[in-house]
Amino acid sequence: MHDLQELLDNNARWAESINERDPEFFAKLARQQTPEFLWIGCSDARVPANEIVGMLPGDLFVHRNVANVVLHTDLNCLSVIQYAVDVLKVKHILVTGHYGCGGVRAAMQDQQFGLIDGWLRSIRDLYYVHRHDVAQLPTEEAQVDRMCELNVIQQVSNVAQTTIVQNAWHRGQALSIHGCIYGIKDGRWKSLDTNISGLDQLPQQYRLRPIG
Ligand code: CO
Repeated sequence: MHDLQELLDNNARWAESINERDPEFFAKLARQQTPEFLWIGCSDARVPANEIVGMLPGDLFVHRNVANVVLHTDLNCLSVIQYAVDVLKVKHILVTGHYGCGGVRAAMQDQQFGLIDGWLRSIRDLYYVHRHDVAQLPTEEAQVDRMCELNVIQQVSNVAQTTIVQNAWHRGQALSIHGCIYGIKDGRWKSLDTNISGLDQLPQQYRLRPIG
């Protein structure tokens, strides 16, 4: 069992070790943050954003929720995207899922889990669309893992279809959305080769002209 004091001690050692390497590190960060990446990932404790990609404090702007879902009615996630794109002007948005995601697995089961069912509903809809293809896979684990990939691909589209991202492209701002997935079993983070970096990659029905 860990207690709070252990975490406080860990923190003191961590801050001290960074200070030893670069005495100006925290002073520089306190003045401003200039991350080039927005990470949208799962809340799962086994998927720590900065550690996985070897980034220091200040390098990643981060939003995490259960099953890395991007909904067009979620003010929390949309606010993070808006601040990252409009104010911080990140160059890349990394939507990162992970294999064996419990949220994705829950959305594929025939049982209630409570409030979370509503949050995961769009993944259940996605599973319904892909149910025949997914059912071809031999094991439950393989089926969940495939849905984890399909979920990332869907969320990349959802990010790219926001008016926030579209307006950045209308302004000529360089911005790319990437789909990635992390393996809890091997620690490897890989690209799903799903990249959207302009309006021409969006289906016509989702391309929106700015107001005015
Ligand atoms: Co997860």
